[in-house]
Amino acid sequence: MADNKRPETMQRITTPELAQAFIDEQLAALRDQIGDKKVLLALSGGVDSSVVAALLIKAVGKQLTCVHVNHGLLRKGEPEQVIEVFRNQMDANLIYVDAVDRFLDKLAGVADPEAKRKIIGKEFIEVFAEEAYKLDGISFLAQGTIYPDILESGPVKSHHNVGGLPEDLKFELVEPVKFLYKDEVRVVGKQLGLPDNMVYRQPFPGPGLGVRCVGAITRDRLEAVRESDAILREEFKANGLEGRVWQYFTIVPDFKSTGISDGLRTYDWPVVIRAVNTVDAVTADVAELSFNMMMHIVDRITHEVKGVNRVLWDLTPKPTGTIEWE
Ligand code: XMP
Repeated sequence: MADNKRPETMQRITTPELAQAFIDEQLAALRDQIGDKKVLLALSGGVDSSVVAALLIKAVGKQLTCVHVNHGLLRKGEPEQVIEVFRNQMDANLIYVDAVDRFLDKLAGVADPEAKRKIIGKEFIEVFAEEAYKLDGISFLAQGTIYPDILESGPVKSHHNVGGLPEDLKFELVEPVKFLYKDEVRVVGKQLGLPDNMVYRQPFPGPGLGVRCVGAITRDRLEAVRESDAILREEFKANGLEGRVWQYFTIVPDFKSTGISDGLRTYDWPVVIRAVNTVDAVTADVAELSFNMMMHIVDRITHEVKGVNRVLWDLTPKPTGTIEWE
């Protein structure tokens, strides 16, 4: 569709000046498209939806309603940051939905990776639709679609592109960053004043930590994924590797092994660490890291994360291993 082709004359956005020109142009286009009507946005806190939210807040202010669904599978501190940045700092209309119990109850006992993904995607749409039905007079649905999503060459897009909505919620779409590549979205986000850890965030799958809590998700193992991930991110940041290694995260498999702590035998989970570099996520190389740093991370995770007695480092390139474990 001609509508979905990046104009050939469009310059690559690489500088703050070019980002500002794009922002000015989009603000005018958004005001023109939306007029005095109301817009709805599913705001995950990822860079794409955050940039769309920031643009819309500047363009139409309180005509925008953002819905942030906490499905319990977000990284440590993420829901709090969405509230802080968008509600407290940008004064947006933000509906925060605590759907943690609802998602985790539905996922209880489900071990199959595709079944888990389906439940998370379906439940997300249901929760979002319930919120949308409570609102009056919505005319537009904003989405953080970016150009690789249209080209379908990028990583699988998350369910945050709320494509499966019921017919009566299929509003006209507002997609201000649909011709941008990821690096351009980041330049625009930086120019819009979004925090660095939001703008330079590593890719995060829609099903979130759910695909890193291998097999049937339990709350205690999920907490071990979340806490170990937070430690890993802290250490990568402290070593100047934030934004320099493409993706790094932890996984907690659903088996235990023996260990020893304070002279007592333990029977606990291992944490697996995966840190990779890639250009397009189709193939990936294992990131080469300092052994001292790795041992420090092992020490912190085994001492600070409840229920964990061992750390394994995944040295498998893609292929043969995918980046995620599920
Ligand atoms: P794999 O594991 O297939 O992942 O090597 C390639 C990239 O895609 C991300 N990924 C997902 N993103 N929904 C998403 O939005 C998903 O279900 C999903 N699965 C994998 C993964 O994090 C990596 O960056």
